[in-house]
Amino acid sequence: MTPGAEGAASVPILTVRNLRCTIAGQQVVEDVSFDVPATGITAVLGRNGVGKTSTLRGVLGLIPLRGEVRLGGERIDGLSTHRIVRRGVGYVPEDREVFSKLTVAENLALAERQKNPRREFVAELFPDLVARRDQPAGTLSGGQQQMVSVARALLNDNRLLLVDEPTKGLAPKIVTEVADALREASKTVPILLVEQNLEVVRRLAEDAVVIAGGRVAHVGKASDILDDEELTRRLLGVHVEHAA
Ligand SMILES: Nc1ncnc2c1ncn2[C@@H]1O[C@H](COP(=O)(O)OP(=O)(O)O)[C@@H](O)[C@H]1O
Ligand SMILES: [Mg+2]
Repeated sequence: MTPGAEGAASVPILTVRNLRCTIAGQQVVEDVSFDVPATGITAVLGRNGVGKTSTLRGVLGLIPLRGEVRLGGERIDGLSTHRIVRRGVGYVPEDREVFSKLTVAENLALAERQKNPRREFVAELFPDLVARRDQPAGTLSGGQQQMVSVARALLNDNRLLLVDEPTKGLAPKIVTEVADALREASKTVPILLVEQNLEVVRRLAEDAVVIAGGRVAHVGKASDILDDEELTRRLLGVHVEHAA
């Protein structure tokens, strides 16, 4: 999709209004509202257990929800997950979820949903996966498995990607590689990124939504949020080291 195809740059690709979600009778998202701009990377921040993953799963219709979710202005709340996915929402789940007994090539082939999947784009972005195409995905490193997971979402012409903690548990060098790939991908598709590594957030995200206790506690420019020591300590429980 060419930039601007959504209309004016100011029209968000995703709007979430008063999202509430329950899992097993427990309310895990209390009242979440935010916009995702049609370009670039928007970060979702917050401590463990505040409802970040549940927010993504609510947007995808994977868990019961109330409230309003719009993709490019059209309501998608109430649609089944496969319809939401068909409208162009790609999902890279928290624990990668690759098929470990299948090869890299088989994992990717299973993800293709359109006539002309973007195989060349994916191959350029992840040359390592091309070299390992016949290797069972379960024998890959965590970082390589994450790349398979991201690559699956990039094979299709999505209008939005939801990416949940892609750098979790990865070695620093691999974190950089995954972050580079996401930045490259974000030139072609907007990304809503749950990320705990604040250095990665600083490098990638223009905007950020901070969630606390199932509610939006703050929205703003990612750099402003990360520069606010009091806010990051209170809402993220971390002390951000400022580069000299
Ligand atoms: N399958 C589940 N069953 C019951 N409670 C859950 C389930 N998944 C998540 N929760 C609860 O929902 C809340 C939000 O979880 P989650 O959205 O995974 O948070 P985050 O991604 O921010 O760490 C937590 O209190 C968690 O314990
Ligand atoms: Mg989570």
